[in-house]
Amino acid sequence: MKIAVIGTGYVGLVTGTCLSETGNSVICVDIDPDKVQKMKSGIIPIYEPGLDVLFHRNIKQDRLHFTTDLAEAVKHAEIIFLALPTPPGGDGAADLSYILSASLEIAKLVKEYKVIVNKSTVPVGTADKVSAVFKENLAPGITVDVVSNPEFLREGVAVEDFMKPDRVVIGTRSETAKRLMTELYAPYVRQGNPIIYMDERSSELTKYAANSFLATKITFMNEIANLCELVGADVDAVRRGIGSDDRIGRRFLFPGVGYGGSCFPKDVQALVKSASDAAYDFKILKSVISVNEKQKVVLVNKVKKYFNGNIKDKSFAIWGLAFKPETDDIREAPSLYIINELLELGAKVSVYDPEAMGNVKALLGDRIDYSIDPYEALNGADALLIVTEWSAFRNPDFEKMKALLKANVIFDGRNLFDIEKMTDLGFYYNSIGRKL
Ligand code: UGA
Repeated sequence: MKIAVIGTGYVGLVTGTCLSETGNSVICVDIDPDKVQKMKSGIIPIYEPGLDVLFHRNIKQDRLHFTTDLAEAVKHAEIIFLALPTPPGGDGAADLSYILSASLEIAKLVKEYKVIVNKSTVPVGTADKVSAVFKENLAPGITVDVVSNPEFLREGVAVEDFMKPDRVVIGTRSETAKRLMTELYAPYVRQGNPIIYMDERSSELTKYAANSFLATKITFMNEIANLCELVGADVDAVRRGIGSDDRIGRRFLFPGVGYGGSCFPKDVQALVKSASDAAYDFKILKSVISVNEKQKVVLVNKVKKYFNGNIKDKSFAIWGLAFKPETDDIREAPSLYIINELLELGAKVSVYDPEAMGNVKALLGDRIDYSIDPYEALNGADALLIVTEWSAFRNPDFEKMKALLKANVIFDGRNLFDIEKMTDLGFYYNSIGRKL
């Protein structure tokens, strides 16, 4: 099939590349000429494991193209995906200006029936707004269908999530659009995972409900972990104890330093705002937001307690800056909150992350030190704080760590190590929701 993807951010680029992998002819459009030029010459602007293989293969096989020319893409495509940013506006609601202005431009270019697919995370009612823009601006006699097709992919495993999705949600009441979308997604659900059809509004809400539910699940576990510490229980045991119940499930029960990233914080905020616009007070989600804010600095509170509030001029090593492993993304990353708190308290900070150092350097400059490997960061540090659970941190050389650290003190925000082992090795090891 012939596809256009408008916007080559994270979602757009993964969508375009993965759609070309099953034989579709895909044109990706971006307004940034430098970015387009780079992609044309085979440079991927984001870090996403596994994307490079598909990206290069499909460019080589002439199925994946990049352009700044919207008219060329609109002419080419039967199905046009909108994968544009929806940043939070001042009031927490998603800003739809990119989507609505792109819709207006596309409407003026359309000369025959097209399916317009909204891939961005957008509030309930956006498909109707986009439809209205098309209706007002299409040439007489021409129609389009606007479909809501939220994406559920996770950074770091986005290619796998796209190629083998748990489910595909298609929100449309048009039989023609339904048929075309089913044909497009058929290769991705061959193992029997469902395509779930619904109306546009339900589909839009499904995306927010999914992310908000997961954020709530994590936050619930973070509170259980905090309680475990107070009552002498072990959150790992409780997690396993409840997760084996199918109704609860094992995934997304790992306590830590709070959720971050470009999706959960933004989407939970936006759902609270949509609810309040509909005169509904979404109390659980408001609590999720405030609990998560506190959880982001839980490690700093542990540090303060350990050093009796005396942190000034102490030096701390931080392992992990990205909001989660396998990404260089630091948006809403707990590491940034932790670093800021430590700096405000007068501490020195030395950091290491396998992928996100460049992004943090661009933000914090020389306010902190950057290490070339995890061990360099430990040199002379009063304590190590582990913030992101990169695999490379799971089995370190503990003797080397002891030799480098000023004191054998670790605050682990991701529960990477066995407590008994750490005690035997002579560490003071303070993790989340577990015994000291
Ligand atoms: C999330 C959703 O998982 C995707 O399904 C969705 O498509 C995406 O948002 C989006 O809306 O685009 P993502 O933000 O990439 O994906 O990352 P997750 O793997 O979901 O992690 C989110 C945050 O939760 C991270 O900060 C992670 O450390 C934290 N987390 C996750 C925990 O603290 N505990 C867990 O058990 C799981």
